[in-house]
Amino acid sequence: MASKLTLDGGIALVTGAAGGIGKETALAFAEAGAKGVIFADINHEGVQAAAEESRKYARHAEYRALAIKVDISNAESVQSLVASTMKEFGRIDYAVNIWRAISLSRPPTLDLDVFSKVSDTNILGAVLFVRAVMAAMASQEPLVFPGTRRHGPRSLGRGSIVLLGSTNSLIGAPGVISYGTSKHAVIGIMKSAAVDSLALQSAIRVNTVCPAFVDTPMIQSAIEMNPMVKHAIDNMTPFKRAATVDEVADYIVFLSSPSASFIHGTALAIDAGFTLPAPVLPQ
Ligand SMILES: NC(=O)c1ccc[n+]([C@@H]2O[C@H](COP(=O)([O-])OP(=O)(O)OC[C@H]3O[C@@H](n4cnc5c(N)ncnc54)[C@H](O)[C@@H]3O)[C@@H](O)[C@H]2O)c1
Repeated sequence: MASKLTLDGGIALVTGAAGGIGKETALAFAEAGAKGVIFADINHEGVQAAAEESRKYARHAEYRALAIKVDISNAESVQSLVASTMKEFGRIDYAVNIWRAISLSRPPTLDLDVFSKVSDTNILGAVLFVRAVMAAMASQEPLVFPGTRRHGPRSLGRGSIVLLGSTNSLIGAPGVISYGTSKHAVIGIMKSAAVDSLALQSAIRVNTVCPAFVDTPMIQSAIEMNPMVKHAIDNMTPFKRAATVDEVADYIVFLSSPSASFIHGTALAIDAGFTLPAPVLPQ
């Protein structure tokens, strides 16, 4: 099914774009009409294939896709990703920070080595991305989209940044202290970045999306490690299923688009009601 979201150009940079939510998001930007999409991932062959595949769906007449290898937890690698993107495309309008966050959700739940490793990867990766992308966005002119209905042109500002949280950013869950803490930190990074003077002066929007279970290779390995994950999806989620990757990708493209030009500093659950305080009971 073709996406109903439309973008009239703009350059998207998506990390973790070799698989799962990241790949689907990068493809969704191509399909929505982005002029260029940068597919970045630690898996270089994977992003080369995904970038190639995107040409099938791209709608912009001058569409260009580029695959770049990046380790999102390495400062030099992230700076180099942003520098290469600016050199090739001259700007970044929609930046999405996704990668396989480490979960390591087996006991002991508060092993300090695990905690340090998870923090170094999950928290540092988000900070490095925001730092590098925000500086690049601040140096570019705002992107303005043609008006709709009775209204004049709408400015996207100098860019939009979306970070991947999780419902573990919003609620506690047993057995995942390190992962849950790091995902709460992603919201802290997003909120701090959203009120940073650079974001406000440059009109850069920063938001987080917080999915519950999503059907990706990451959730498949979680199920292999712990069959209770499948049991939870089948029995504890309101719709008795995981989200599909396109349900999450569409949400991210919407948040990045001019339609969301007044949405800033939010952590939006995409969970079919999983984090509502009371369980959703059968009627
Ligand atoms: N799948 C879920 O149920 C779910 C739910 C909530 C939140 N999330 C979050 O969404 C994000 C993506 O999850 P997914 O399920 O799509 O994962 P995935 O494992 O399917 O894909 C992640 C991608 O990240 C890449 N990657 C791994 N380490 C990297 C690194 N250091 N630098 C750059 N790229 C790297 C992998 O090569 C892979 O292509 C994670 O942050 C996860 O915490 C996932």
